[in-house]
Amino acid sequence: MSRRPLIAGNWKMYLTKDEAVQLASSIASSCRGIDDRDVMLAPPSIFLQAVSESVRDSPVMVAGQNVCWESEGAFTGEISPVMLKNAGAAMVILGHSERRHIFHESDELVNKRLLGALRFDLIPILCIGETLDQREEEQTFAVLEQQLAKGFADVCLEDAEKVLIAYEPVWAIGTGKTATREQAQDAHYFVRGVLSGLYEKKLADKVRILYGGSVKPDNIDSLMAEPDIDGALVGGAALQSESFDRIIHFSK
Ligand code: 13P
Repeated sequence: MSRRPLIAGNWKMYLTKDEAVQLASSIASSCRGIDDRDVMLAPPSIFLQAVSESVRDSPVMVAGQNVCWESEGAFTGEISPVMLKNAGAAMVILGHSERRHIFHESDELVNKRLLGALRFDLIPILCIGETLDQREEEQTFAVLEQQLAKGFADVCLEDAEKVLIAYEPVWAIGTGKTATREQAQDAHYFVRGVLSGLYEKKLADKVRILYGGSVKPDNIDSLMAEPDIDGALVGGAALQSESFDRIIHFSK
């Protein structure tokens, strides 16, 4: 089963508008002609529109970093799926560990957001991953299984096929400590097994699973060589065109 790789940059709460536009334009020009992989940028939402315009006529897709489940309403501080799409987003990151741990978003809330994204045709990237304590207590697989089961609650098979997963071990995010390619591959293989149990093997074989956590130019090739790693969700190294370019142009 060949799955099209996706290299995604999560800009978190970084960059000024000018820097965002400049970086997006530079990435768009280095992606021209690429046709065997997808590239995505998730800027802070206030820059979505400007970034979307900068990558127009290039294969680069744009994503939100979170989304509400309703199209409109009294939800101060939230952004609706319709608004994200208006600003040019095709995808949205959900359940990022920073949302879960700093803002206490529960599996139930993440599921609500996921259902909302799907209802309005935004492609969700569902982030899952264990903390260092959970890994040391050998809870990794149990944590991943629970995040997947609760994250996919009430998602029908047809919608589940549209979802991407990002495995981001919390201890590897922004720490410079990448999971080894074996640790990442084991987790991705496990995730595929869980999806197969929740739905069916055919779906599990189709779903793209990205790895995230200290992905850098010097480890992307070996991560991408693993059979169940279908791409990367990149934080720090996505903030500079040189390093992100190298990651986009990985070779196995
Ligand atoms: P770093 O690449 O900076 O570790 O961040 C990973 C991440 O959180 C991507 O969503």
